[in-house]
Amino acid sequence: MANVIVVGAQWGDEGKAKITDLLSKSADYIVRYQGGSNAGHTVVVDGDTYKFHLIPSGILYPGKIAVVGPGTVVDPKVLLEEIEDLKRREIDPSGLKVSTQAHVTMPYHLAIDQAEDSGRGRKKIGTTGRGIGPTYADKSDRIGIRICDLIDPNELKEKLEWLVPRKNIMLERLYSLPPADPKKIFEEYKIFGEKLKPYVVDTSALIFNAIKNKKNILFEGAQGTLLDLDHGTYPYVTSSNPVAGGACVGGGIGPTSIDRIIGVSKAFTTRVGEGPFPTEVFGREADELRAKGTAWAEFGTTTGRPRRVGWLDAVLLRYAVRVNGIDCLAITKLDVLDNLDELNICVAYEDTTTGSKYYDLPLAAGIFKRVKPIFETLPGWKTSTNKCRTRDDLPEKAKNYLDRIQELLGVSIAIVSVGQKRHHTIVIEDPIHGPKRVLQQS
Ligand code: IMP
Repeated sequence: MANVIVVGAQWGDEGKAKITDLLSKSADYIVRYQGGSNAGHTVVVDGDTYKFHLIPSGILYPGKIAVVGPGTVVDPKVLLEEIEDLKRREIDPSGLKVSTQAHVTMPYHLAIDQAEDSGRGRKKIGTTGRGIGPTYADKSDRIGIRICDLIDPNELKEKLEWLVPRKNIMLERLYSLPPADPKKIFEEYKIFGEKLKPYVVDTSALIFNAIKNKKNILFEGAQGTLLDLDHGTYPYVTSSNPVAGGACVGGGIGPTSIDRIIGVSKAFTTRVGEGPFPTEVFGREADELRAKGTAWAEFGTTTGRPRRVGWLDAVLLRYAVRVNGIDCLAITKLDVLDNLDELNICVAYEDTTTGSKYYDLPLAAGIFKRVKPIFETLPGWKTSTNKCRTRDDLPEKAKNYLDRIQELLGVSIAIVSVGQKRHHTIVIEDPIHGPKRVLQQS
């Protein structure tokens, strides 16, 4: 029995879906604990591509319970479309369980998110426009609508009658947008509530009982450590807590129930949206990392925006290991580096104004935006790794690259992904029962 958290160690899009898909096989429950339809998980099974925004991809395995936990925000329209899509593809959605406590993304949240971000001009965050920030803001402001309200027409009506006129003041006066109609929203969302009701339960109690019955629980983080509201590159972050600690709050379980934390990182770095990115590259170098024209191409699953790309940043990853308490790592997309002559790894930052060196992430936004990377350069392996199935199959220089990452981060690499499909995976050590944090950061 093991309860495992899979967490993104960078700015999201690390390829977590492939790793959670791999680990879902031995899990009984797969739990989303934060975020909403801003997330985009792509899984390729037997040549079929599945894209999820809210439902844990573990639903693809028959008999698994896929939980959308209390810490998430749910756009019911998106969730119902995903359920319908599963049914169309003859996948049974009855294992889906949605928390009574999750907050509901309403149409005014979408409108406010989009208007607010574009109104920021040069200071825009580049949000996914899915209403995430405004939904979490209402939650903190204690005026949010929860799933338990969505499925209770009396509560829903009462809340909307009070809330919508307040939101209309913002929509009309601040953003010059048309007002929302509470009656229309009520009629539409009451039906969403009816449709979702069969899936709604107290998921915290459900998970607690599962843990008592020695079931295996997999907590899957959306986004990544550097997008964490508290521990990321604020203000260029999302409004939830993707870090491992968020799994306890957002899943509704105690920290004593967690056995293992697996961090996922690409073999290089990507970022969607605005904000500083010290190892970012441009032009031809960027095209190579973006794998333009291939199935691996770096375009956001949710927004379709081209991802910004850069070299592996060990400063940022060491930080992720520390704030999440990562036991071992999964490295994805190693094969994207196959054709490169040389590879850079950022081992420290230099402040371009003061000349100070940083070996740990400078969290002050004013400093982080002006650091430049100090690189270590390693030779490329110039051979395809796509057919490698064990560590020994890998070219020597690829092994050296991975060894150097392990050394710099102080954790072992348990999994390496060398392609998009399930079988394009090298399991170096058991990611769940292998040694915990064997190496130490210096
Ligand atoms: P929001 O979560 O839509 O508010 O967007 C805030 C920031 O997080 C933006 O920079 C987004 O591009 C980024 N972001 C949100 N979700 C994801 C994701 O799933 N992958 C990568 N970036 C994301």
